[in-house]
Amino acid sequence: MPGRKLLGAAVLATLGAALWWRKNPSACPYGQRFWVEAPHPVITRGRLRSILRPEPGERILEVGPGVGYYTLDMAEWVGREGTVEIFDLQQEFLDHTTARAGERGLTNVVPTRGDATALPYEDGSMDAVALTAVLGEIPDPVAALREIARVLEPDGRLIVGELFGDPHFTTPAALKRQAAEAGLTWDERSGNWFAYFARLSSS
Ligand SMILES: C[S@@+](CC[C@H](N)C(=O)[O-])C[C@H]1O[C@@H](n2cnc3c(N)ncnc32)[C@H](O)[C@@H]1O
Repeated sequence: MPGRKLLGAAVLATLGAALWWRKNPSACPYGQRFWVEAPHPVITRGRLRSILRPEPGERILEVGPGVGYYTLDMAEWVGREGTVEIFDLQQEFLDHTTARAGERGLTNVVPTRGDATALPYEDGSMDAVALTAVLGEIPDPVAALREIARVLEPDGRLIVGELFGDPHFTTPAALKRQAAEAGLTWDERSGNWFAYFARLSSS
């Protein structure tokens, strides 16, 4: 039956593409931003707030904000006296997020462009770092985690969010391994194996 053959070919092509993406980490192109604009089940903004436990006045770094799914809320949580530094490989995502922040009247979102394996921030200068659906896109995730550990203040916390279905999904076990290599301590997890936030610390 031609219909079944076509369907089979489409399934195989999708699986092949997914496998290829897993083996070849690379940044989600701005043209495919509809993926990150969609609701993030389980790893909701409320769940992020519970595990991040942000305080007014804090300086928080978000690596790979995409279209700012979490950024605007984080900027509200730290208040006017706090700052959310957004750091991304792609200028389009930074522009998109800062434009949205401006529309919401937020003046504490600061964009910087670059690669997560070479962060342009001073040692110990961040109270917390957050990154969701980013780690698996970085060809050397341990190098990025080392950089994050460097910019975190002593006892600073790192929140890593992951969602199954993302071709670059990082399993909790892989994250634990990578974090240990980078000198980070695993503290807790919120969510389930398929969709989770992990909280790690730099101490
Ligand atoms: C799948 S999106 C996730 C966006 C957002 N965190 C979310 O959950 O909606 C991945 C983001 O990470 C950024 N990114 C990927 N590799 C990066 C790298 N090496 N350094 C900095 N940003 C990177 C991409 O440009 C993109 O903005």
